[in-house]
Amino acid sequence: MIRSAICGIGAALPRHVMTNSELETKVDTSDAWIVQRTGIRQRYIAGKGETTVSLGTAAAQKALENARLGVDAIDMIILATSTPDHTFPASATEIQSNLGMNHGFAFDVQAVCSGFVFALVTADNYLRAGMARRALVIGAETFSRILDWHDRSTCVLFGDGAGAVVLEARSSKGTINDTGILASCLRSDGRHMEKLYVDGGPSTTRTVGHLHMQGREVFKYAVGMITDVVDNCFAQTGLSARDLNWFVPHQANKRIIDAAAHKLGIAPEKVVITVGEHGNTSAASVPLALAAASRDGRLKKGDLIMLEAMGGGFTWGAVLLRR
Ligand code: ACO
Repeated sequence: MIRSAICGIGAALPRHVMTNSELETKVDTSDAWIVQRTGIRQRYIAGKGETTVSLGTAAAQKALENARLGVDAIDMIILATSTPDHTFPASATEIQSNLGMNHGFAFDVQAVCSGFVFALVTADNYLRAGMARRALVIGAETFSRILDWHDRSTCVLFGDGAGAVVLEARSSKGTINDTGILASCLRSDGRHMEKLYVDGGPSTTRTVGHLHMQGREVFKYAVGMITDVVDNCFAQTGLSARDLNWFVPHQANKRIIDAAAHKLGIAPEKVVITVGEHGNTSAASVPLALAAASRDGRLKKGDLIMLEAMGGGFTWGAVLLRR
């Protein structure tokens, strides 16, 4: 059978680091409040000339370098984003053009913070169906551009950035020892829209709008939804938390990550946490965390890794893979 294996990982961050102390000069907040409630110490904020497409392009280039592949080897690009450069065309096609790729196809996937997990599962299905041999899967966001910078309850939580992986189809034995994606689970429930949404859009207000969130409500659902899809991946494979080498969760909030890992019985030393440095970068957060753990040598060949994310919609999902 065909399995989709990650053969390259890359990341890109804006130049400007905004610390909690810089935020203290903009809204009525404090480093202590932000760190205690979220674990966030700083985030990267896109400046002039930095956009979802420019960050996504840079991350894709790094992933290609890491895979030692040229763009000719790629058949498709999927970009997960809720902050595209334009309403259309898809930012994925702008990245395709920036990479000098004029073959294959590219499109965007929109599942907010779960976007990268949704895009990875989508690419996995294209590869296993034989429609493509290699895919670039990118998560890129500039949430700073949809934040209300006067709303201290949201503007302290988010940051900008991009991460990317090259996914490759490999002939495999069909066992849980294979390299590549072993199981995945996606969910959504649109009844939760008002808990986390943007109050604008081309077909309603003809504006981009600003992010609104009922933080406590999101928190209430997050841990249960995350553990639901993670347990589903374990059940599909007969593997368990004890077999995991790394848990790479969506980086929204350290308290959510800690609570989910605790409920799943995953040891704290197996959890990759980057929310302190990046803030919540929505669809970019999982590939940024993957890139950080890959760069510092934590992710080794053969390691069993669980990815998960939950976000606006609500959407939520998990992917169990072997490096
Ligand atoms: N600085 C200082 N005080 C603040 C700030 C701030 N930035 N923001 C809110 N406060 C105040 C509030 O005004 C309130 O004051 P009051 O008691 O005088 O009314 C007090 O802090 C408590 O506010 P709450 O909203 O109840 O704070 P809570 O303890 O719930 O923490 C938080 C808020 C961090 C958002 C929390 O609810 C949370 O982590 N929610 C999860 C949501 C999340 O992480 N979303 C990310 C996007 S979704 C996703 O990616 C999964």
